[in-house]
Amino acid sequence: MLADAQATETFGASLAACLETPLLVFLRGELGAGKTTLCRGFLRGLGYDGLVRSPTYTLCETYRVGPVQCLHCDFYRLSHAEEIDYLGLREQFTADCVLLVEWPEIAAPVLPAPDIELTLRIVAGGRVVETRAGTGHGGGILAALHRELM
Ligand SMILES: Nc1ncnc2c1ncn2[C@@H]1O[C@H](COP(=O)(O)OP(=O)(O)OP(=O)(O)O)[C@@H](O)[C@H]1O
Ligand SMILES: [Mg+2]
Repeated sequence: MLADAQATETFGASLAACLETPLLVFLRGELGAGKTTLCRGFLRGLGYDGLVRSPTYTLCETYRVGPVQCLHCDFYRLSHAEEIDYLGLREQFTADCVLLVEWPEIAAPVLPAPDIELTLRIVAGGRVVETRAGTGHGGGILAALHRELM
């Protein structure tokens, strides 16, 4: 349970504390569920103190934070999976990279299976976040995250 936006940011920062690259994260949830807020907290947790904008119009924002390359994408406005190729995303997804994807539905066919899927639901009193591992690597990170949150 995430009682307010600050709690969503803190959850994102906790995930950052458990990061081992490369990592592919899918963020699911309806409009306004808190996906960008979680990514902002993730970047803050990594140590990024600049502005974190929603990539709704740019599709992808890139952040270099120390040794980590963070790509934050929002594919809500994407109409064809092939547009991913124009972004050169697969080429950019290297060993030091974490790729956070809002609205992964359209892009999923051309992306690898996500290490982690986070689903945010709007409920009375805030948001509920559900975690799911898609790979062994993601499972290890989620286990560390659950220990971190205990
Ligand atoms: N746990 C929470 N409780 C209440 N409000 C929250 C919570 N987490 C985030 N919010 C608020 O929800 C609003 C929408 O958040 P955000 O922009 O992160 O959603 P989003 O899922 O990225 O939406 P979109 O699909 O449009 O990109 C913001 O005003 C944010 O402060
Ligand atoms: Mg968003």
